[in-house]
Amino acid sequence: MDSNERQQFKDSVVGMFDRAAPIYGQVGIQQFSYFGSWLVEKLDVPAGAKVLDVATGRGAILFPLAEKAGASGHVLGIDLAPTMVTETAAEITRRGLTQAEVRMMDGDAVDFLPERFDLITCGFALHFLDYEHTLPKLRSMLKAGGRFAVITPFVPRDENLARWKWLFELTRAVFPEGFVPPSAWIAPNKISTPELIGAALRDAGFSNVGTEEHTTTLYFRDEDDWWDWEWSQGSRFWLEGMSPEGLERFKRESFEHLRAMQTADGIPSTMGVVMALGYK
Ligand SMILES: C[S@@+](CC[C@H](N)C(=O)[O-])C[C@H]1O[C@@H](n2cnc3c(N)ncnc32)[C@H](O)[C@@H]1O
Repeated sequence: MDSNERQQFKDSVVGMFDRAAPIYGQVGIQQFSYFGSWLVEKLDVPAGAKVLDVATGRGAILFPLAEKAGASGHVLGIDLAPTMVTETAAEITRRGLTQAEVRMMDGDAVDFLPERFDLITCGFALHFLDYEHTLPKLRSMLKAGGRFAVITPFVPRDENLARWKWLFELTRAVFPEGFVPPSAWIAPNKISTPELIGAALRDAGFSNVGTEEHTTTLYFRDEDDWWDWEWSQGSRFWLEGMSPEGLERFKRESFEHLRAMQTADGIPSTMGVVMALGYK
C-alpha cells in the first residue's frame, strides 16, 4: 500500500468507527467487553502497571486494565476516531478514574519515550494499523521484559459457520456481480489465525510468542437487537456500502433467517478471538 492508499484506508476505517462510536459496544451482544475482560484476566496485570491500549475504542480493554492497575498505575488509551475518544473520556470521568486517560492519536504514529510501558495491548484493531512498521516501534516503548498482547477476531469453524452461512451468502448477493470489497472491509482476514498473528509478533522482534484461541456464545435478544448491533461495529462497513434497495433486501431477508434461528435464550452467535502474547 503506498502512502495515498494507506491514508484512504485510514480515513475509511476511522470515519466508519467514528460514525459507529456513540453505539459501539452499547447495543446487541457485548463481545468487545467480554473478550476485553477475558484478555485482562489472562494477563494478570499487577497493581501500579503502566499500560498503553492502542485503538482503545470505547475502552473494552482499557476499563478492566484500569481496575487491575489501580490508583498507583496508569492506563493510557489512544484512538484516531474523535467520537470514540470523547465518549471514552466522558466514561472515565463518570467512573472517577484518576489512573485512566484517553488521547486522540494515530496508532501508527505513536512516539512515546522508549521503555515507558510494562504492557501494551491492542484489541480488534491491529489489522487496521501498518503493523509491520508499527509493531517494532511499540516494542521499543516497552520496558525490558514488558509484554505486548493482542486479540484479533476469527470466525469459529464449527456449527456456527453453518448457522450463519446465509449471512455471508446474502451479503455477497446484494452487491453487484464481481464486486470486490475495499481492503478496509476485509482487513481482519490478514491476521485472523494463530500462525499469521504469531508470525507478525515474531517478525517484530518479540520473543516467547504464544497464541491461544478462545470462543464464546452470546445471544441477541431478537432480530432488532441484531440489526442495531450490525450498525455498531465492523459490519457497518458492509451496510454503508449497500444500495438503498440492497440494504432493504438485506434487512428483510436477514430478519426471516433470524426469526428461524430464535431460541428460548435468544439468537446464538459463537464468536472467537486469537490472542497472541509476546515479550521484549
Ligand atoms: C473494532 S474497534 C476496537 C476497539 C477496542 N479495542 C475494543 O476492543 O472494543 C477498532 C478501533 O480501532 C480504531 N482505529 C482504527 N485505526 C486506527 C489508527 N490508525 N490509530 C488509532 N486507532 C485506530 C478505531 O477508531 C476503533 O476505535
